[in-house]
Amino acid sequence: MSDKSFIDNLISQMTLEEKAAQMVQIPVSAVGMEESLKWAEMGAGSFLNVFGDDIKELQKAAMEKSRLKIPAIFGTDAVRGHAENKDATIFPSSLTMAATWDRDLLRQVAAATAAEVATDGLHWDFAPLFCLARDPRWGRTGETFGEDKYLAGELGAAQVRGYQGDDLSADDTVLACAKHYIAYGEATGARDSYDTEVTFRKIRDEFLSPFRKAIEAGCGSFMTAYGSIDGTPLTANKKALRDILRDELGFDGIVVTDWDTVNYLVVRQKVCKDINEASRAAASAGNDIIMCTSAFYDAVIEEVREGRLEEKILDDAVRHILSVKLKMKLWDKPIKKGIPGSIGCKAHLELAKKAAENSVIMLKNDGVLPISFNKKIRKIAVIGPNANDIRAQYGDWTYFTHPLPGVKKEPARPYVTLLEGVRAQTEGSGIKVEYAYGCAVNRPDYHRETKDIGAFIDMCYEINEHGTDNYKQMPFINEAASLARESDLVILALGDNYTQAGEYTDRADLDLSGMQEALVRIISGFKVPIITVLIATKPLAIPDVVKRSDAVVCAFNGGMFGGEAVAEVLFGKKNPEGRLPISFPVMTGQVPVYYNQLPGWHEGRYVDCPKEPLFVFGEGLSYTWYEYSGLKFDAGTKTVTVTVANTGDMKGTETVQIYINDKVSSIMTADKNLAGFEKVELEPGESREVSIRLDDEAFEVTLPDETRVIEHGEFDIMAGHSSRDEDLIKITVVL
Ligand code: GLC
Repeated sequence: MSDKSFIDNLISQMTLEEKAAQMVQIPVSAVGMEESLKWAEMGAGSFLNVFGDDIKELQKAAMEKSRLKIPAIFGTDAVRGHAENKDATIFPSSLTMAATWDRDLLRQVAAATAAEVATDGLHWDFAPLFCLARDPRWGRTGETFGEDKYLAGELGAAQVRGYQGDDLSADDTVLACAKHYIAYGEATGARDSYDTEVTFRKIRDEFLSPFRKAIEAGCGSFMTAYGSIDGTPLTANKKALRDILRDELGFDGIVVTDWDTVNYLVVRQKVCKDINEASRAAASAGNDIIMCTSAFYDAVIEEVREGRLEEKILDDAVRHILSVKLKMKLWDKPIKKGIPGSIGCKAHLELAKKAAENSVIMLKNDGVLPISFNKKIRKIAVIGPNANDIRAQYGDWTYFTHPLPGVKKEPARPYVTLLEGVRAQTEGSGIKVEYAYGCAVNRPDYHRETKDIGAFIDMCYEINEHGTDNYKQMPFINEAASLARESDLVILALGDNYTQAGEYTDRADLDLSGMQEALVRIISGFKVPIITVLIATKPLAIPDVVKRSDAVVCAFNGGMFGGEAVAEVLFGKKNPEGRLPISFPVMTGQVPVYYNQLPGWHEGRYVDCPKEPLFVFGEGLSYTWYEYSGLKFDAGTKTVTVTVANTGDMKGTETVQIYINDKVSSIMTADKNLAGFEKVELEPGESREVSIRLDDEAFEVTLPDETRVIEHGEFDIMAGHSSRDEDLIKITVVL
């Protein structure tokens, strides 16, 4: 029997109730096993937030007690490893791994994650994100691959291939989920789940291509975003879900809503008067599985019974669900086996370490790096709230922020903090390493005498300018200041922590929070070289820290071995190869600062802010230097060729970046857009010719009628080390 006839036959047997149940996804952690078992017996199609033996029990109920014995599909959030499981491998965050610009590494990470997720019996990973983070005030910036559609699309598609492998029914692969469809991070004011005021032309021009790459990679499911496009919630957005995703892009997998968004149509977005209208709207718009809104079941049955909704709408949804379950061979393999022993295994831990090592971005170095063992440095002070805090080093979507049912939020080895990494690097060298907390990231209550932060900051300035020692009033800063003053080098670990990022956690102020700025001012007053390491979920506005630091290294959230990876860079064991996947603002008011801005802004800057961002997309320093020459373009194959040379005395890995500028177009386009990249490892003195084939879409514009065309004319093709003009060589071609 063909798949189609199997599905047609099954649908023909299903009652309206069974079709409605197949569309329901039950959050077991929220409703408990007793209620979940009842849903399984009713034929609920999907469950989430459940693991191990409970999956077996629920699947047994679904396949033995429901009338048609259709297997359920079980999903979880393993965005950066199966990190809700304390024993699992915790990789760097997506934004951190995006700094590797390494498609195959991201694919390997996804494949390792799939094996661990499947070993817990799960079929479905709600990952990767294809959202763009173009305003770092957004709480979920760290979950994305950064600000650029090409980089996000390439890395996300690589992860889809890693999660799904070549066979969705294999023991160690899982169904991937392209989320959150669409333009979720572009909401006005970077407000999580708020309205996104963009046109569908803009959506096609900026946000659709990553999701198109997800489909080309075979992604089996999509998740609709919480937000809305110009007033129409994605959950009820037929144009997005049916016209574009289904009819135009030909997506035939599962569309799942985000958490309880059908209910939000009523209680938050207020576009439906009750759950019946919301259920009708969500089903009509093209959602197949309804996450968590179990009231959908009765409502949608009533809507069909009352003739307000065609049953065919449910048939189509059920068809999408069953066809994916069939591809996964769930009837034969109802429980994923995974690879026994793979959870937290040595190979995966080594991969996590490699991902961390290759993501470290050196942003400033006045010569203090790499730290040498030339006897001049006898004592190193490691200072700061994030130097020895694994919670801060992890960031979001781990067992600290989203624990499995019953998992305690206590640190579980193995992991290496920055302090531990520095100690490991200096062991046996005679260099003394001491640590001081300094101040809290977001709790300004460590100064005891004054609760007035303004007075506190004034006190800090006073310390600097007059060298007075009244900082003794602040025990933690006092301790850090004393340590810094008597040391030969300071390594300062600053940033944010997971209480300042994630869903529902957007920031209005990207300055360093708490007393961190004061700590930097005080310590920089002692004229001891400072290496600042940013351990944060996102870019922060740190111009003063950069000015007062002799070196700046961005680690974002490096996962289990983030501290070890940074320490290897600081001591020259690893030549940093990370490149920024997202730009840094000088101040919050400067956002958005993504690199591919449209032209036309009078003056191109605010009068009270520098023109340039603090750091730009694509940049990252190395212990060696790279030179570009011989840029050529073959219009026939749209292939760019350029020679890159390592002109320094240390082996290094460069990320060759290709940007395109459509010099004159009938609709405004950015002065440059990333169109290709490749990594190349070069020995000192070695040069290599790199060829990169570009997609047509790199040259296309999206017209007001939403069609995409390549307009005849001149195009600048640029190749180089970052998106900075001074880092790029350019040729102009005519297409
Ligand atoms: C959350 C997130 C989504 C996640 C889902 C299930 O609210 O928006 O990314 O996959 O709910 O946990």
